[in-house]
Amino acid sequence: MFGKSKTKAWKHLENVYKHFSETQMKDLFASDAHRAEKYTLQLENILVDFSKNRIDENVMSALYDLARERGIKEKISEMFSGKKINTTENRAALHIALRNRSDKPIYVDGRDVMPQINATLEKMKNFSEAIRLGIFTGYTGKKLTNIVNIGIGGSDLGPCMVTSALRHYWAKDIRCYFISNIDGTSCAEVLNKIDPETTLFIVASKTFTTIETLTNAKTCRKWLVDALGEHAVAKHFIALSTNKEEVAKFGINTDNMFEFWDFVGGRYSLWSAIGMIIAIAIGYKNFERMLEGAYAMDTHFQNSDLEHNIPVNLALLGIWYNNFYNIHRYAVIPYDQYLQYLPAYLQQLDMESNGKSVSLDNKYVDYATGPVLFGGAGTNVQHSFFQLIHQGTEIVPVDFIIPAISHNEIGAHQQILIANVLAQGEALMLGKTEEEVNEEMEAAAKSKAEINRLKKYRSFSGNRPSTTIVCKKIDPYNLGMLIAMYEHKVFVQGKIWNINSFDQFGVEYSKKLTLKILPELQGTVTNNSHDSSTSSLIKHIKNIRK
Ligand code: F6P
Repeated sequence: MFGKSKTKAWKHLENVYKHFSETQMKDLFASDAHRAEKYTLQLENILVDFSKNRIDENVMSALYDLARERGIKEKISEMFSGKKINTTENRAALHIALRNRSDKPIYVDGRDVMPQINATLEKMKNFSEAIRLGIFTGYTGKKLTNIVNIGIGGSDLGPCMVTSALRHYWAKDIRCYFISNIDGTSCAEVLNKIDPETTLFIVASKTFTTIETLTNAKTCRKWLVDALGEHAVAKHFIALSTNKEEVAKFGINTDNMFEFWDFVGGRYSLWSAIGMIIAIAIGYKNFERMLEGAYAMDTHFQNSDLEHNIPVNLALLGIWYNNFYNIHRYAVIPYDQYLQYLPAYLQQLDMESNGKSVSLDNKYVDYATGPVLFGGAGTNVQHSFFQLIHQGTEIVPVDFIIPAISHNEIGAHQQILIANVLAQGEALMLGKTEEEVNEEMEAAAKSKAEINRLKKYRSFSGNRPSTTIVCKKIDPYNLGMLIAMYEHKVFVQGKIWNINSFDQFGVEYSKKLTLKILPELQGTVTNNSHDSSTSSLIKHIKNIRK
């Protein structure tokens, strides 16, 4: 399926890999007292220590050469310029414009997009403040305090992750809910918690054609109309979309619509009107601080040379493992319970952007592209999949994210949390030899037989890479920086793999098959064009549901 394409820098990296691949990080630390400092970058309150990676100066220099060969600096300028880099959909990729805090114009098709972006931000500011102050009330005059976001994918994961991450900043009387899955449970579990008179439904959908979102929105609309009547809809529903026509067709007044644009990808849209629930929950000033944090990272990304560029370095480390160590997975582990949804958000950002196999030259690629991303909040994951991370046969590079200060400083909790995460990185890098286990068990007066029986099981290969990202505290500004950092990391990897990170044809095929199977399940159509498995499963499930 794949052709063959190698470049000078790529070939050089293969050679560097041959000589370096088994080098032990612990030896590199032992021979260079300045290693940590050499491989640590900082931007304001975000510090990135990537010294516990399987690199040295020679490796990094070869990786920077690859970035230069791929014209990364030029590609960054292209994206920021508004060039239509999403070539399969003939669109720009301008999530950076949504948080452009300068007064510099950004042109798409010769038109500065900043006026419309700033107008929508102003509209979001006015509306979110009107909700929070009880100026915009429900049909019966009550304050709207239950805010329900109905959306999926980028119209859910970003708003959900950010409102959770910034829970500390919510207005005291606001409650946020998210309905995303078409599974009736997603609706039921929210509707049984809220009261129609105090609920605002936000229908978030870039296309306003996503079956899960429209079905959930129709169910919620019926729930509201049954309680308060048809006239209540205008006071309890707003829409966030690029598609005015479909919004009007659904029956939401387009005065209550907050628009965004085709040059904003769904998984890059939390900075746009899709972030409405965020602005209502934490207040527009905090939402703006989040934009400012992202803008600070954008400026760093645009202006820093490759060597001192945080997203570029994170991207190159991923390329090194993915394409030279053939490690096609990595984990993101935030040691912050409020950031528990960050891995799920990053799964869409990374895997929907770079889970591609056709290059921008319209050829099948001949190298691995997007890896599998997974993760969870620490310390919990230490008690679930960290056994594999430490002693499994599959090496998994890890990003640890640590806020130094918690919003809930209770006793020694935060110190214990931090001691745990630092211990993980150290243990993964150092490992523990059988000799060291032997000494440890001898010191614990274990018998020779016991030691010989267990020392292999209790030894650790180590040399397992991790990057540690420390931020002072998860506040709107630092969170904005962190998210933009990952957006740009994904962008750089996509450019190195020469793929389009901004389309998502892969999700469309199954959507079409869904619409074919649905009438069969509803008994309105019989169709024997399926494989025997799909056909028998349809038959079996229909029988159960009779
Ligand atoms: O998963 C496919 C996708 O198009 C995502 O890219 C998008 O975020 C999600 O579905 C929801 O799309 P919409 O916001 O148009 O409802």
